[in-house]
Amino acid sequence: MTVNILTLGCSKNLVDSEHLLAQFRASGYKVLHNAYEESADVVIINTCGFILDAKEESVESILAYMEEKRQGNIRKLFVMGCLSERYREELRKEMPEVDGFFGVWDMPAILEAMGNTLDNRLLQARELTTPSHYAYLKISEGCNHKCTFCIIPSMRGKLDSRPVGDVLSEAERLVDAGVKELLVISQDTSAYGVDLKYKLDFWGGKPVKTRMTELCRELGSLGAWVRLHYVYPYPHVDELIPLMAEGLVLPYLDIPLQHGSPRILKLMKRPAAAENALNRIRKWREICPDITLRSTFIVGFPGETEDDFEQLLEFINEAQLDRVGCFQYSPVAGARANHLPGHVPAEIMAEREQAFMQLQADISRNRLKAKVGSVQKVLVDGVDENVAIARSSADAPEIDGQVYILDGQHLQAGDLLDVKITDADDYDLSGLIQP
Ligand code: F3S
Repeated sequence: MTVNILTLGCSKNLVDSEHLLAQFRASGYKVLHNAYEESADVVIINTCGFILDAKEESVESILAYMEEKRQGNIRKLFVMGCLSERYREELRKEMPEVDGFFGVWDMPAILEAMGNTLDNRLLQARELTTPSHYAYLKISEGCNHKCTFCIIPSMRGKLDSRPVGDVLSEAERLVDAGVKELLVISQDTSAYGVDLKYKLDFWGGKPVKTRMTELCRELGSLGAWVRLHYVYPYPHVDELIPLMAEGLVLPYLDIPLQHGSPRILKLMKRPAAAENALNRIRKWREICPDITLRSTFIVGFPGETEDDFEQLLEFINEAQLDRVGCFQYSPVAGARANHLPGHVPAEIMAEREQAFMQLQADISRNRLKAKVGSVQKVLVDGVDENVAIARSSADAPEIDGQVYILDGQHLQAGDLLDVKITDADDYDLSGLIQP
């Protein structure tokens, strides 16, 4: 029997799919992941339920596979993940061809629906779907914040941190299996351990607190790159910057700042104010001048005035962030922000996004240009014709830029080497192997 899992949404979903794939493989199934063309006995769609586009993509995928089932190309079709967690009953009514809808926490029920049982010895096991030299490391589920544009806590629940001993043991296994880069993910990485009151746990007999700084220090001892995602600019994040300066953790922070106007941040109910964020960024750069800062922002949040938008532009001009994503506000069904007054018309949102991205492209180009002539340690992702495609500490896979190694045709995925940067464009660098 072949099981094909299609994963939509974010890396948290991907890790869930990897756990399920490991269970199926152990039960003797042939497993496929995101194999859009190949037929399979069973297809499981792991859905996203966040913004409208993501929901539409999930629904379209389900409809497409319902058609495959009608034509007899697949025998069973299951739907799991965030969309299904939130709209299970509605979907069940609309899509009777689907053999079962499951939520985010329903791995045992999915296995049961296929006549199997959960193998408790494999709870930590994963079938990696990423290239073998990097892997996501999920340290917690859920989130305690109440951002008015977001409904993810209604699907993923409140903060639920994994004990630090479990996280470190998993990280160790991944590194032993050849992983060179660990991508730390969660909904709110900086809150790690708050729900467990920073409980003391053990890793290899050593006492370690379930807390961000302690986790990062120990992860840094494994010898792999450690990259931190979804970090809020809380005061205690300052403790991580010296670990970056020491080389234990990559000098990279992915901090979803969302806006630069304190008034809008308040309407969003974001936990950290813009003013503090700028001070914090300044301080981080003093301690670790090489730090790369990535962030995401929303333009056109309800009530955003021209003045708020100007403040946002001033903020990004001042912050000089390295990597930035910008999204137009998208009303998420069930989010409190939908009821705020002053929704911004679509054409104004589009104009603001364009102005924002233009300014950020200039910032990004200048910051990358400043790297020409430097030597960067890079991790190779693969070789395309004559050029090796790699990433430096400044580049997370999938979302950031790349470093093209012009004389790297003989390199292989997973190679770590020094590259002398010879050229830069808006988002990527190119260079030659440093002898
Ligand atoms: Fe991720 Fe989408 Fe769920 S962004 S947490 S898969 S709603």
